Amino acid sequence: MEHNNQADQTEEICVEANGLWKIFGKKAADILNSDLRFESKESILEKTGNVMAVRNVSFSVARGEFFVIMGLSGSGKSTLIRMLLRLIDSTSGSIRVNGEDILKYSKKRLMDFRRHTTGMVFQYFGLFPHRDVLYNVAYGLKVRGDVSKEERHARAQEAIETVGLKGWENYHPSALSGGMRQRVGIARALTINPEILLMDEPFSGLDPLIRREMQDELIELQDKVQKTIIFVTHDLHEALKLGDRIAIMRDGKVVQIGVPEDVITSPADDYVREFVQDASPAKVLTAGGIMDQPEALLYEWQGPKAAIRTLRDIKEDYAFMVSRHRNLLGLVTLNRLKTVIQNNGASLKEAFTPDPPTTNPVTILEDLFPIAAEADYPIAVVDEDGKFMGEIQISSIFENMIQSKEAIADE
Ligand SMILES: Nc1ncnc2c1ncn2[C@@H]1O[C@H](COP(=O)(O)OP(=O)(O)OP(=O)(O)O)[C@@H](O)[C@H]1O
Ligand SMILES: [Mg+2]
Repeated sequence: MEHNNQADQTEEICVEANGLWKIFGKKAADILNSDLRFESKESILEKTGNVMAVRNVSFSVARGEFFVIMGLSGSGKSTLIRMLLRLIDSTSGSIRVNGEDILKYSKKRLMDFRRHTTGMVFQYFGLFPHRDVLYNVAYGLKVRGDVSKEERHARAQEAIETVGLKGWENYHPSALSGGMRQRVGIARALTINPEILLMDEPFSGLDPLIRREMQDELIELQDKVQKTIIFVTHDLHEALKLGDRIAIMRDGKVVQIGVPEDVITSPADDYVREFVQDASPAKVLTAGGIMDQPEALLYEWQGPKAAIRTLRDIKEDYAFMVSRHRNLLGLVTLNRLKTVIQNNGASLKEAFTPDPPTTNPVTILEDLFPIAAEADYPIAVVDEDGKFMGEIQISSIFENMIQSKEAIADE
């Protein structure tokens, strides 16, 4: 199968890792240079006492992409993400950021890179317990040493507002809930306005409801700030919800990289299949993925009689009406058309309902349920400019959920 481990070629590459290895222990180089490197983690540990943490990992991340690294505990996620900042030295391999080989960076250049280009949100909050929120958030700028106190506080204030913590500036972390503490961590990473945001299981400690809320907020935030994000999680649903692409790690190896729908519909191996088995298709399939093309559309300049003939030809009791540029104008039903014709109406505009239920192509099925529950006719899929892209029959929402479950179970 095709391994989608390179970012889209048309996009600008931001981070590129090639053949990365990390072996913890004194014999790292020997292991790497012998056939031992092909053995299992357990076997290597037993024979050498060293830990094979990351094994020949390659991927690239496009600018502005939300890239998720997912895997079970111990699979090497934290090690990998830390290697990207050189918080952990790789045993072998290359890391390029914006085309520069960061493994060749001098100490000073590396510091610069960490303080200006990247922001990291850690797995555990990493806050100073005896300092207030403002201090904690401004800290990222303080270590840079080149920003005045006033500016630090102004920028920290801005980040605090961005993550919704206004009013909490002078509280200590202990006064905050887990979710709020995590926001402090995110605000701290944002104050330096980094190009790349690295997040290591930022929401793991949170209870499910708060976690979902934080995920939604991160999506909203990403819409606003458009960073390149590398996000580590061991939660499949979180990965599927947030990731433009997902890399799945097992025992230090990346076993699959793909867009969420690929990972669900064609898992690379049993490990991934097991991971995705419990995934609800409702959280994965998108409106764009299940929409159909209607047999006919109606156009604003058509008369009611032409429209009624079209509906009879396609044996439907409705059709969507669009403008010359295919912008969705509304829904026309057979009943309304008949009434208009009976009243000698001359324009199709008299027969349409202007605001039919619509959705955009990236909406997941789960979020279509409330729309579907209210809808008497299919849901129109429109793009950002309001152009009509396709329609979704209410029944097909449920059919697709069942089929995709069966497809996974059959493999
Ligand atoms: N400093 C270290 N020395 C020795 N082994 C280490 C070190 N850091 C990590 N490891 C080992 O490397 C492997 C990968 O660990 P890592 O922390 O990257 O996993 P992870 O995927 O982030 O797990 P989790 O989901 O639990 O955070 C594990 O077997 C771990 O025990
Ligand atoms: Mg970890």
